[in-house]
Amino acid sequence: MRPQARTLVTSALPYANGPIHIGHLAGAYLPADLFVRYKRLRAEDVIHICGSDEMGVAIMVRARKEGIKPQDLVDRFHPLIRESFARFGISFDYYGRTTSDVHRQTSQAFFNKLAEKGTFVTRSERQPYDPVEKMFLADRFVVGTCPNCGNENAHGDQCERCGTSLSPSELIDPRSTLSDAALEWRDTVHWYLPLDRLQGEVAEWIATKKDWKPNVLGQVGSWLNEGLRDRAITRDVPWGVPVPQEAADLAGVNAEGKVIYVWFDAPIGYISATKEWAAEMGQPERWRDYWQDENTSLVHFIGKDNIVFHCVMFPAMLMAHGGFVLPTDVPANEFLNIEGRKLSTSRGWAVWLHEYLDAFEPDLLRYALATTLPETKDADFSWADFQARVNNELADVLGNFVNRTMTFATRYFDGRVPPLVDPQPVDTDVLESIAAFPDVIGTAYGSYRTREAVFQTIALARIGNKYFNDTEPWNTRKTDTARCGNTIHVSLQLLASLSILMDPVLPFSARRLREMLNMPAVRDSARHASSPHGADHVDQADQAGQDVLGWDDAGRSLLAPGHALGTPEILFTKVEDDAIAAQVKLLEDAAGGQGVVGSVAGDGGEVEDDAAGAPAYEEAKETITFDQFSALDLRMATVLEAERVPKTDKLLRLEIDVGYERRQVLSGVAEQFDPESLIGRRVVVVANLKPRKIRGLESHGMLLLAEDPDGTLHFVGSDGVDGSVVR
Ligand code: MF3
Ligand code: ZN
Repeated sequence: MRPQARTLVTSALPYANGPIHIGHLAGAYLPADLFVRYKRLRAEDVIHICGSDEMGVAIMVRARKEGIKPQDLVDRFHPLIRESFARFGISFDYYGRTTSDVHRQTSQAFFNKLAEKGTFVTRSERQPYDPVEKMFLADRFVVGTCPNCGNENAHGDQCERCGTSLSPSELIDPRSTLSDAALEWRDTVHWYLPLDRLQGEVAEWIATKKDWKPNVLGQVGSWLNEGLRDRAITRDVPWGVPVPQEAADLAGVNAEGKVIYVWFDAPIGYISATKEWAAEMGQPERWRDYWQDENTSLVHFIGKDNIVFHCVMFPAMLMAHGGFVLPTDVPANEFLNIEGRKLSTSRGWAVWLHEYLDAFEPDLLRYALATTLPETKDADFSWADFQARVNNELADVLGNFVNRTMTFATRYFDGRVPPLVDPQPVDTDVLESIAAFPDVIGTAYGSYRTREAVFQTIALARIGNKYFNDTEPWNTRKTDTARCGNTIHVSLQLLASLSILMDPVLPFSARRLREMLNMPAVRDSARHASSPHGADHVDQADQAGQDVLGWDDAGRSLLAPGHALGTPEILFTKVEDDAIAAQVKLLEDAAGGQGVVGSVAGDGGEVEDDAAGAPAYEEAKETITFDQFSALDLRMATVLEAERVPKTDKLLRLEIDVGYERRQVLSGVAEQFDPESLIGRRVVVVANLKPRKIRGLESHGMLLLAEDPDGTLHFVGSDGVDGSVVR
């Protein structure tokens, strides 16, 4: 007997502020699902834990935008997300949510423990405060005038116009986005996780993880090199897990109005969800096996944007707390682009899981995505590739092989498995090569080379097809029935093994194939949803003590001669061009009908960060009247002098001639233009813009520039004489 390995698999808790898209699937959920299905087929002790991340400012922002309560928002998205995962065959043992009582208790107890152990640092700081809403403001709720470019709607964390990163205290005339009130500054106490102090322990532990993926070690390494800084883990916002008063008492402050930072509570959600899973099974202490027993491997499946939290912050929290296992591996994936462009939910550039499921079977995307996972670098999903994978691989290779074999067996062998009589090397070679596949595919899954595992899976079907072609059963049927029988026998054995080995990636089709083959019972790779959380932990057949086939049985002869087969069916139908065109249109319409699919080959994607939410092209502005337009005094001008504003990266001080006078204008173009190169340049200036001070210097007017989506700037100019009106 193999020593029983126990594995706790987690997938990043998705924020319950929007539906699931294929970027989520490719980052974490699909590879995690294939991994756990493989382990379940091996009868390993494995559970897959996930849930909705329902706290945090992102949830609050979205709810505010919609004018609803955060609780109502998460109540809407949590079931939608859970359902779409279930329909796609992501087989969690438990899918929880971080608004649960168990989670509140678990994360507060965790927080209290660290507070008691003296792990935290508390500090009082001046923070922006909205006197109308009576609350402290996160940076993104502060707007004001950018000290760099004069944008009057720069955010407290960044100016979207010139890209400068800012803090609320740098803004001119800062105000609240919630009430528009002028900001106040008030003192408030916050708890910090002193990662600087915990760095040594984290670094020592990471040093033992030599076999982790290079993309993960690379990111962690550079964080450690730069030196970890302490991190505020509380917030003054009205949504989140409340800071427990016990901990606040230790610090001598009032906990009221304070919540735990979402990146502190969310990973604890893995623990709370495991507790809920155990309780639901009637074994409330069983969660400890997975979290507190050294023989458990904890594996976090995540996207690359979550690396630091899972490889540094959460482990540091677990170390400080004590008594928990630390992650054994964090096989983070890179990002998935779509049709050559960066996935962006704010720009509508995404393929949504629930929409996909309305059009196609889950297995098609499971397969196409699994072959395209961004395991080592960013990868690209395209509908054309999806179609090619389905048609050329699933239908033409796997489906065709199933169809040929089943048709022959049904027509010429009475729907029964023919015996293997006097097998030739061509037959035994294939039987031997099948035997090697459980190990080859399994090793790939076990070492997070999911793509490789799936390539090997389809490779087995290719072997079948080639064998079928080489042995020409359509000829031997007439010349040598026994030989023909051998071909069908071997092909059926290959299919029986394949129906197990393909199960992680193609669970729905594998089940149908097994029905066609009328196979003996095979261990279930999924959990059955006996409860809303989907945690029927014991396989029905296992429970009844029956013999069931599992992963390691694949590769053997699984079908006895004379065994009666089921009815042949088409396993995969080809995806037609118009179905693909419809998806492309859906994508383009959502992105504002820019008609870019297929025309962007080689476009390296866009520079904007999804989180910043900047559209590729700014939205069209509202219609204005001619009077509004004529209110602008646009004039031709010439640059006379140009120099950098000291201690700024972007700002140039320009002297310009607007015909009737000379003026000083500040412009945020220093990163792209040498001051000298601008002298003599003809420009258009908004001459009647109210003068204002930027970094203590007056700027009187604004130069017009066109900005490309990649940030490249172009001066707007013409040949008119200085001072002539542009209209
Ligand atoms: N909600 C986060 C995201 O979507 C992930 C949270 S993972 C957890 O990026 F570990 F915090 F749960
Ligand atoms: Zn700016």
